Amino acid sequence: MAGTLTLGIVGVGNLGGALAEGALAAGAVGRVVGSDVSKERLTELTERLGDQFQSATPQQATASADIVVVAVKPHLVPVVLRQIKGSLPAGSVVVSVAAGVPTAKISPSLPDRWPIVRAMPNLAMVVGASATALCANEHVSEEQLDSIETVFRSVGTTVRVDESMMHVVTGLTGSGPAYVSVLIDGLISGAVKKGLSTDLARELVVQLFYGSAKLLQETDLHPSQLRDRVTTPGGTTIAGLSELEAHAVRSALMSAVEAAAERSEELAQS
Ligand SMILES: NC(=O)c1ccc[n+]([C@@H]2O[C@H](COP(=O)([O-])OP(=O)(O)OC[C@H]3O[C@@H](n4cnc5c(N)ncnc54)[C@H](OP(=O)(O)O)[C@@H]3O)[C@@H](O)[C@H]2O)c1
Repeated sequence: MAGTLTLGIVGVGNLGGALAEGALAAGAVGRVVGSDVSKERLTELTERLGDQFQSATPQQATASADIVVVAVKPHLVPVVLRQIKGSLPAGSVVVSVAAGVPTAKISPSLPDRWPIVRAMPNLAMVVGASATALCANEHVSEEQLDSIETVFRSVGTTVRVDESMMHVVTGLTGSGPAYVSVLIDGLISGAVKKGLSTDLARELVVQLFYGSAKLLQETDLHPSQLRDRVTTPGGTTIAGLSELEAHAVRSALMSAVEAAAERSEELAQS
């Protein structure tokens, strides 16, 4: 079913463009109709994706779609909803990837009782490795949600959450690539301080994160178990860990997620 669907995307920037590309490459949809204010972006995607991608106005992208993804910046979501409201085909579902825009703010701009899904992906979508959380209002059918999951699985993994958890997810995996980048940057600097070249340190640290994540993903190990497996009494790792504890790194990470989730709540109310 999913492979025959048409995906309409309003805003084919970083995320919308990556979704178009990933969904077509995986055969999750049969066709993508995309709209963007940037003509260059549309031309680039048309050249890259061929006949299966069609550029259109927001209304046209909506009119032929089974799934309509709104992938513009949060402050432009009301503008786009006004543009597409009159073009939504019966049986279609609207998916918003906008951070901090709750379904309660989307639904008044759409026809009564319209199916709405919120997705919180992250920038790793551009390399097919997003961690995407999905939540749906009560008008979304299981079949629609399955199809949307298939689309987002083409660019990473998906989980379903209650909408009340979307702020946490935003502060965790939406913002998360920035936290991980800070950690990677710090480790590279430590190695450079001890004489390793920046290029070598970068190559090693990026693979370190990839390998550690793969270990956790492919085994049942809890992070604390993985930590203990690497830690010899009186050895090098405990010396490093002791510095992380002295600088309250775990506590800082907890606070970062908490602060970002609270900021997401504030933005949703503004
Ligand atoms: N990037 C992330 O890490 C991330 C993570 C999670 C969620 N999100 C959410 O994803 C959404 C998109 O983010 P992004 O990084 O992909 O943004 P982006 O690269 O700026 O893409 C949005 C695109 O939509 C275009 N656009 C603006 N108004 C439009 C309209 N009325 N009709 C058609 N196209 C329009 C923009 O054109 P112009 O640039 O010319 O305005 C731009 O090309 C945001 O709401 C963000 O909150 C992003």
